[in-house]
Amino acid sequence: MFTAAFKTLQACPNLTEPNNTWEYFIKYGIPAASALMIIICCGCMCFLKTKYKFSLLKLRRREVEIQAIAVANQNSTLHHTVSLNPYVEIAKDSRQNSHEPNDRWEVAPHALFIDTSDKLGSGAFSTVYKGILIGRVPVFDVYEQRTFASDFIINNEVAVKVLPNHADSVSKQDFLNEIGFMKNLGYHGHIVSMLGCITDPKEPCLVVEYCANGDLLKFLHKNKPNFMESASEECPLGVDGCIRMKDLLSFAWQISDGMEYLSSHDYIHRDVAARNILLTKKLAAKIGDFGLCRVADQALYTTKGGRLPIKWMAIESLKQYTYTTKSDVWSFGVLLFELFTLGDGPYPAIQPLDMISHLEAGNRPSRPALCSENLYDLMSSCWQAEPALRPTFSEIRSKLTSMLDTATEHYGYLDVQNEVEVEQKAEMK
Ligand code: ADE
Repeated sequence: MFTAAFKTLQACPNLTEPNNTWEYFIKYGIPAASALMIIICCGCMCFLKTKYKFSLLKLRRREVEIQAIAVANQNSTLHHTVSLNPYVEIAKDSRQNSHEPNDRWEVAPHALFIDTSDKLGSGAFSTVYKGILIGRVPVFDVYEQRTFASDFIINNEVAVKVLPNHADSVSKQDFLNEIGFMKNLGYHGHIVSMLGCITDPKEPCLVVEYCANGDLLKFLHKNKPNFMESASEECPLGVDGCIRMKDLLSFAWQISDGMEYLSSHDYIHRDVAARNILLTKKLAAKIGDFGLCRVADQALYTTKGGRLPIKWMAIESLKQYTYTTKSDVWSFGVLLFELFTLGDGPYPAIQPLDMISHLEAGNRPSRPALCSENLYDLMSSCWQAEPALRPTFSEIRSKLTSMLDTATEHYGYLDVQNEVEVEQKAEMK
């Protein structure tokens, strides 16, 4: 086409009076097409420049927000009280914690295999995959004197939390802060503990214990048909395992033990719920999800730009956005409700936006059918409107200890087949 146009141009140098289509094309078409192309190019450049400016602005705004929250927390006189940002106390801890690439927590990248086809959980900012860690396990070096009741010892299975490829520098810094927080948290048998990490700023990884039985909420749903109310009832043939009252009590006790550890170290979890408790192969319950990763299918209500577990939140957290160990106690009460309803959600008929007025009118979840009066008293005490009147985790744990003892006496002694219970009894004594 262009050759033909060129030939026409040669044959007809004077185009003041175009006579045919080619001459019209040369006189008007080519200049118009060129002008159009120049306009499109300018438009694209303007669009890209504006987009770049916006992302810079967004980045700066997030940095300023984080700094403002850190300053607000430094100035705060309220012990235990933190703001909505899940990473504030992590940031505080990370100041004591430099991310030395050669520190004892560091895993050699070639020793860690991440199975990206086996996704265990994902959230807005990170994904957890199953992995295998070969060779040295940093946590064993860091706590040389301890014995570990971790399934990890058996077959090198780990869970690895990573950031998406497109993570920006702020998400990377948040993640490095979370790693710093996990280092400070230390090891506890009822917390999903850190085994090691890779703090290469390009591709940071957090390696934690793998919990083969997944989260407690799904476990309760799955085993609801296999719940045996009576201790003497035989588990039907062909069923993998049955859960009984004492198993539920045992989960409650283990979680209270993990929460006692967290609260005694001044940590506030802020999302205590069955979906955030993980179960190991031997059914040990461990508190997980320290801020970044959420199990995707839970409906969390959104306000103030964050995802909030409205129906698990204490009344003062809903009203004033304050979080304390006592607001964790409230959420623990809701977790007890989930346990003894075998995974029902609280307040099914109430809209999240109506929760404040519902609670202020004195309403609380009613006693689940499987729950004794004693246990319901404990549950209800966690939902006292006045935080100071709620029990401490240490009190909750000792109440659960006596209930567990009564339950096991009532059922005859613990069956030896369940190693976990035997381990727990040993721990509790
Ligand atoms: N999902 C999220 N974290 C997990 C873990 N540590 N083990 C098993 N499943 C998980």
